[in-house]
Amino acid sequence: MRYALIGCGRVSPNHVAAAVDNGLEIVALCDLDAEKAKALKARYDLPDSVRICTDYREMLRDCRPELVAVATYSGTHADIAVDCIEAGCHVIIEKPIALSLADADRIMEAEKRMGVKVSANHQNRFNAAVQQMRSAVRTGRFGKLLYGTTAIRWQRGDDYYQSADWRGTWAQDGGTLMNQCIHAIDLLRWMLGNDAVEVTGVTANAMHPSIEAEDMGFALLRFQNGSVGMIEGSVNTFGGDWEETLTLFGEKGRAKLGGKCVNVVEEWHFADGDDAESRAVVGCGEDPPNVYGFGHKSLYADMLEAIRDDRKPYVSSAAGRRALETVLAIYRSAADGKPVSLPLAGGSTLDFKE
Ligand SMILES: NC(=O)c1ccc[n+]([C@@H]2O[C@H](COP(=O)([O-])OP(=O)(O)OC[C@H]3O[C@@H](n4cnc5c(N)ncnc54)[C@H](O)[C@@H]3O)[C@@H](O)[C@H]2O)c1
Repeated sequence: MRYALIGCGRVSPNHVAAAVDNGLEIVALCDLDAEKAKALKARYDLPDSVRICTDYREMLRDCRPELVAVATYSGTHADIAVDCIEAGCHVIIEKPIALSLADADRIMEAEKRMGVKVSANHQNRFNAAVQQMRSAVRTGRFGKLLYGTTAIRWQRGDDYYQSADWRGTWAQDGGTLMNQCIHAIDLLRWMLGNDAVEVTGVTANAMHPSIEAEDMGFALLRFQNGSVGMIEGSVNTFGGDWEETLTLFGEKGRAKLGGKCVNVVEEWHFADGDDAESRAVVGCGEDPPNVYGFGHKSLYADMLEAIRDDRKPYVSSAAGRRALETVLAIYRSAADGKPVSLPLAGGSTLDFKE
């Protein structure tokens, strides 16, 4: 399948590696800065036939990719994705899928109209540890799910925010909840049943006066099924990236994922299990070199299968929209100082500028 990548920055190596590992024919690498695209091509020793482009619309016209990944600034995802979809491409969109619900809806409308597949790039859903927990949820091993917590305890210094103008801005990024924490927020909402009905949030910018948005965020989610979710996210953790955890408590089980990015099972106890099972499962997972993990490869493999079998991708555009809605609801609650009800009628990171 003919593949192109738009956006050749920090996360782009994960995309090129996933494309290569899945046997895609890379036809173009596109970035406003051609040097970045060239460096990526050289790093993966891609064939001469791979075109380097700076204008993605020209690239769509001239290179005719069938599958495109969009890994540009978050505020540009929707416009670029809709153009790709309207050119007839299937699209993998980096998280967050967009920065407003109206933009997410535009993507979903175009996806439906053009009959293509769109996947939101929440690659941690494919972590072995996450799949282990998901399977316990699906088979009912927790019994009634009581509550879940997630903690994203990472560190981003001024050098990170100064590495590109768009970081930490309301127009192109949002704060740590929208950027770093949205993976875990997606997982928590998914595990607890998706149907969140109320969100209470608190956000703060404690250590990064140069950015517009938050560097710490905290929230409580109430679900239709009675369960509760708790979110703690920070890029102010002393000493560097510490951990990203996801813990579920049910009437018949408790389990905790940890490691740097929910990549390892840390606790595993079920009424229908025993110590031998706990010993076997604790420690399972991967040890990735960075917090992006290994999930891009599996997400690409799933997308290819979804296209082949004409089914929904495992991480659908609707899932990407739900994660976006959750973060926007936390922002709205934090700004108004009161709980907000879901579904949100609308919302955009731009609502919080000033
Ligand atoms: N899934 C993950 O774990 C993960 C990790 C990091 C980043 N991301 C997401 O990926 C996206 C990119 O993040 P990054 O850290 O790689 O950013 P980056 O700033 O390092 O790279 C973005 C690149 O996009 C290019 N670009 C912007 N607009 C463009 C356009 N119209 N046409 C072509 N190129 C364009 C820029 O020149 C830049 O090189 C963000 O949405 C971010 O949230 C996801």
